[in-house]
Amino acid sequence: MRLDKYICESTSLTRSLAKKALHRGDVTCDGKVIKDSGFKVTDKQVICLEGEPLSVIGPRFIMLNKPLDTICSTIDEEYPSVLGLLDVVKADELHIAGRLDVDTTGLVLITNDGQWSHKITSPKKECGKRYLLETAEPLKQEWVEEFALGLQLNNEDGLTKPAILEILGSHQARLTITEGKYHQVKRMLAAVGNCVTKLHRESVGEIELDEDLASGEWRYLTEAEIKSVR
Ligand code: URA
Repeated sequence: MRLDKYICESTSLTRSLAKKALHRGDVTCDGKVIKDSGFKVTDKQVICLEGEPLSVIGPRFIMLNKPLDTICSTIDEEYPSVLGLLDVVKADELHIAGRLDVDTTGLVLITNDGQWSHKITSPKKECGKRYLLETAEPLKQEWVEEFALGLQLNNEDGLTKPAILEILGSHQARLTITEGKYHQVKRMLAAVGNCVTKLHRESVGEIELDEDLASGEWRYLTEAEIKSVR
């Protein structure tokens, strides 16, 4: 790889800033100052910028415990984006694999790997998302079957895919769905005449929200968690 490209892929510098750093003599390759942007490097060489060793940023996979009143898109005038909670370089290259509403908390997966996130969000892949929810009105046992058979949502053609509703208390349930329609969980409860008052995502596929992550905290996924998305 060209040295200027290597610098761009391992820092937040643009190509022109990388070239300037090279011309200033701030970059070394195995201890020798290199000023040529086109100099070819391999991953066996130690490249330093201002004395700090660099390594190319490859695919990244992150889980974050989303707090209330944050959004999963980048621009909003009222609420901050969850991406602002990540202190990583090149955060602008990351995207969210399955967004949550501003008033939903819990597991958010963030990556720069589009193929990986497609496996999570594509309805064809049937990746289960499990939510813990609370409702304004009491839950009815008969809804377990209705959710399993599929519900007719407002302004949608066809029924929702089979969902697993597990009633935990008069106003609390777990719901697992394999689609990600707009406001899907809230609309499913609305379809049976109820209203979601609290919503928290516990898991996506086999990836469970790490209990050690306080609200707003994040960590990189393990190899096993990354590979579990197929
Ligand atoms: N369903 C919703 O209604 N909201 C979410 O944030 C996620 C799923």
